[in-house]
Amino acid sequence: MIEFIGKFHPLFVHLPIGFFTLLAVLELLALRPNWKELATANRVILLLTIPVSLASVVCGWLLAWGQEESSTLAWHRWLGTGVAAAAIILWIVRQRGWMRTYRRWLCATLVLLAMASHYGGSITHGENFLSWPKSPALVKTFSAEELLAQSAYAAVIQPVFDKYCVSCHGEKKSKGGLRMDTLEQLLKGGDSGSSLEPANSTDSLLGKRIALPLEDDDHMPPEGKPQLSESQLAVLRWWLDAGAPVDKTLGELKPTTEILTAIQSAIASASTKAK
Ligand code: HEC
Repeated sequence: MIEFIGKFHPLFVHLPIGFFTLLAVLELLALRPNWKELATANRVILLLTIPVSLASVVCGWLLAWGQEESSTLAWHRWLGTGVAAAAIILWIVRQRGWMRTYRRWLCATLVLLAMASHYGGSITHGENFLSWPKSPALVKTFSAEELLAQSAYAAVIQPVFDKYCVSCHGEKKSKGGLRMDTLEQLLKGGDSGSSLEPANSTDSLLGKRIALPLEDDDHMPPEGKPQLSESQLAVLRWWLDAGAPVDKTLGELKPTTEILTAIQSAIASASTKAK
């Protein structure tokens, strides 16, 4: 039940963002003598920001219930709670008719709201969400020959892990005790031991987890997160079945034409879309 209510957080959060933005715009307009009547509307909007902010905060706390507290989550949590508190204070200040204080506080609340939203965005879309898209010129393209001389692990496998797994299995978060950000960490394994042994796609923990149906709680990456493409899955399976080698080149692993095509598209999609 708690979890269910929490799921409404992503829906509710957009209401305070919309209401506060609208309020700020209308308050600016209300400064002009011929738009004075807006003052009444603004009181109603301000009043409405209180229940919607409180609803987002309550759902947000429920959603994060029992989750590991990362620093991003902590910032988001407290900035968001601050916005709800600010809505109540703004209401009191405005009711008292302290308009100058009210306008200053409203500006401060917008800053608070922007920061809370940014941290919220980082939680759902990843830390690098706002980073500039990589220039296409920087994306490596290989001829077949060059491609075959690359290390299978470094050129194909690690980039896929970087894009789809490291947000939860990295330095900052290591879910299930597993880190996949470096080869050394990957080989250490997680809480259940090695994820790569026995080194084939059906018995290794990693192979099993990525092959589970999406609805399965153990499926990786978890439902709702960006999922591996068909070609990336095919390439990971192929690499696991080759014994999960970390120092062999692609050529040494003798990929079939089919796998080679899959490798090329796996590389392309792991590197072109910005993380
Ligand atoms: C949104 C976060 C998230 C992402 C992204 C993610 N995982 Fe996980 N992973 C978890 C959590 C949480 C656990 C621990 C709970 C569990 O075992 O289900 C876990 C556990 C695991 C385990 C078991 C570790 C052990 O030793 O018990 C493996 C293997 C694994 N993940 C592989 C992957 C792979 C491969 C990817 C990328 C294709 C991936 N995960 C992406 C959250 C994530």
